[in-house]
Parts: sequence; structure tokens; C-alpha cells
Amino acid sequence: MAHHVLLVAGARPNFIKVAPVLRALDARGTFRVTLVHTGQHYDEAMSGGFFRTLGIPEPDVNLSVGSASHAVQTARIMERFEPVIESERPACIVVFGDVNSTAACALVAAKLLVPIVHVEAGLRSFDRTMPEEINRIVTDALSGLLLTSEPAGRRNLLAEGRPEAAIVDIGNVMIDSLEHMRAQMEALEPGRHHGLARGRYGVVTLHRPSNVDDPTVLQGVLQCLERCAADVPLLFPVHPRTRARIDALGLSLGSALRLVDPVDYIESLALQAGAAVVFTDSGGIQEEASHLDVPCLTLRPNTERPITVELGTSTLVGNDPVAIEQAFLAILAGSYKKASPIPLWDGHAAERAAAAIEGWLDSAASDRPFDPDTAAGRHDTRAREALGVQRAGRTSKPR
Ligand code: UD1
Repeated sequence: MAHHVLLVAGARPNFIKVAPVLRALDARGTFRVTLVHTGQHYDEAMSGGFFRTLGIPEPDVNLSVGSASHAVQTARIMERFEPVIESERPACIVVFGDVNSTAACALVAAKLLVPIVHVEAGLRSFDRTMPEEINRIVTDALSGLLLTSEPAGRRNLLAEGRPEAAIVDIGNVMIDSLEHMRAQMEALEPGRHHGLARGRYGVVTLHRPSNVDDPTVLQGVLQCLERCAADVPLLFPVHPRTRARIDALGLSLGSALRLVDPVDYIESLALQAGAAVVFTDSGGIQEEASHLDVPCLTLRPNTERPITVELGTSTLVGNDPVAIEQAFLAILAGSYKKASPIPLWDGHAAERAAAAIEGWLDSAASDRPFDPDTAAGRHDTRAREALGVQRAGRTSKPR
């Protein structure tokens, strides 16, 4: 019997994570999948273009919630998602990452007693001023199967008292998408579009409230980036929320800091791959830059993705202009970290996710206990050893 699984996507980073999981579920031939788009992101550049580039089919359901305050957006998603769950009655829902759509749909499913799988579980910045941290905590608390992308995920979940049997280390599905698109990424010469020479430019992305909502902070960061751009031209694809804040500042910026509209997924990867340095506050870009071995200055005081600092190329510089500029000058002078391979970031995370979901649902259907080691499949034995993962007895099954 095919398991009916409902996947939820809402915002740009979700789409990159959904694509490989959808493919892996289809490849097993044991799932019937319903894809729900909440409509949290809706612009062509933030949504439609990503669906096409990533080969994601039209969603079965689009909740078309659009933008609003956190409470209104979350409430709207919940209101519109509830009837979908009631009519579809899936065996489980699968939610991704830490956006409002993730937490909103998990809340609805939990109250209708539909089991929840969280892809990218256990990440914690320990900074509750971030809306995403609240979403992570809520989603993990409600999820029965917790699929982690890096060792910190397992550590944090165990520290919160979650049982070993609920956690499977699958690795990073975002890296699956990158590897899937590698040939297209390498074929694209970003300089052709923007007049930039490979290795002689930087890329900037900023959208976190902590960097863009306070005009003084935003102005300080922009002026700092302008000074950096005097040494190396910086291309800055501007997120819509950041664009609105920059327009409101009314700053006149020099031409070396090039503000452009959001770029599509392959262009974003290609721009990073060819860059001398990346400045970002995005979680996904910390991961992509680390995987591509490109120096990454993370304009945050903390990260929920510590592996990108430990083994990747990310350095936390916060949003103090002096610290940002010093770190940038050090990179120009040749002083930066080289990336080491990150366990399970091998392009096969989604296959492990699909195997784990199937094992988990099978165990519920047959009333057998779920064994995460078996469910995780055959790809990761060596990586597990590298991670030093050891397990005790396990007895959980989907509620
Ligand atoms: C959301 C996620 C964030 C993620 C980011 C990636 C939450 C709490 N935040 O932040 O974790 O890193 O997506 O982009 O879920 N807008 C448009 N067009 C769109 C979408 C948004 O113009 O298609 C504008 C609207 O003015 C909106 C603003 O961007 O008010 C913010 O959008 P929203 O989805 O609320 O949050 P993001 O900042 O995108």
C-alpha cells in the first residue's frame, strides 16, 4: 500500500529542500505525494522561477496566503491548511526548515493527530529574538520524526529530551539540490551577465530583521559594504524586504556596490562559486558557500548551523562595520579558512530522508518499533562512524 505523504513548501529556501525529497519519494515507488504551497512567497523571482528551475511540479494545493505580520501570516496559513488536512488525511506531513509556513502547518497537523516529519530538525541559534528560532522550537516539539542536517541537530534534540529513536541523521538536502544542479552551475559564467571576473568580486545577501529593520544598523552595514566594494566589486541581489528598507533610507550608494533584483537559483549558486567572498545573513548561503569552499562572512552574532563555522568557511562577524571590514581585509590578504568535507553532505540526504520516512510509516502500519539505523538506509554507514553516532535501544513509532 502506498503511503500518502503531504509535503509543505512556503518560502524560497523551502523550495530548494523540497525538490530532492520529492524526487527521492517518487523514486521509491511506495509513496503518493500531495504538494502544498502556502504562498508565503509568491513573486516570480521568489517562488515560480524556483519551482521551474528545480523541476518541482505545480503544487496540488496553493493556500495563497501572501505577506502579513507574523501572527496574521501564521494564522492565515493555519486556517487554510486545516481543511486540506481534513480532506486529504495523509499518513504524515513533511515540513522543511524554519519559516512561518513550517511551524503553522506543524501546529495544524499536530492538533488533527497527523504525524509530522521535520527535515532540518534540531538546529538552534539559542537566540529567541529570531522568528526562525521560535519556528524551530515549535516544529521540533511537535514532530515525531526528526531528520537532522548536521551533528548539532542531534545534540540539541537529545539535550531537549527527545529520544534517540525519533532522530535520523540524513545530512543536508539543500546540498542535494546544489549537487543536482552542479553541471548547470558550472556552465554558467556569472561575469557574462554582470561584467564580473571570476574570483574578483564578492556577493552580498541580507534580509534578517536584525540587519535590515533598524535604519542605523542597515546604514552602517551598507556604508561598510561600500567601502569594501572599493577594493572588490560587490554584487548584491536584494531581497524584497531589504529593498523596501533601503529605499526608505534614501541613501545614495556608489556604483561598486551593485544592487540588483533577486537572482534565480542557478545564478545564485554560480555567483557564489565564482566569488572571492560572500557576505550573508542567510542560513542556506552559509551552507552553500561552505560546500563550495568560498570564504563566507556571516553578518550574525550566532548561527544555528555551527558546522559551517567548524568545518565550513563561515566566520561570524555580526553587524559591526569595523569587524566586517577587518574580516574582509583579512580575506583579501589571503587569510581565510579552507573547508573540510562535512559528514553526510554528499548529495544523497533526500534518499536517506525517503528511506527513513518509509521505515517510520511502515513501523506504524505494522506496529513494529521504528529502528532509525535501519531506516536511514545503506548510504551512510561510514559517515555515521565518522560522526561517532552510537545508539541505545529504541522503541518509538508514529503516533
Ligand atoms: C522568510 C523566512 C526566513 C527566510 C526567508 C528567505 C519567516 C519567519 N522568515 O523571510 O526565515 O530566510 O523567508 O527569503 O518565515 N515579499 C515579496 N515577495 C514575496 C515574498 C515576500 O515582496 O514573494 C516581501 C513582502 O514585502 C514581505 C517581505 O518580503 O512582507 C517579507 O516576506 P516574509 O515571507 O514575511 O519573510 P522573509 O523576510 O522573506
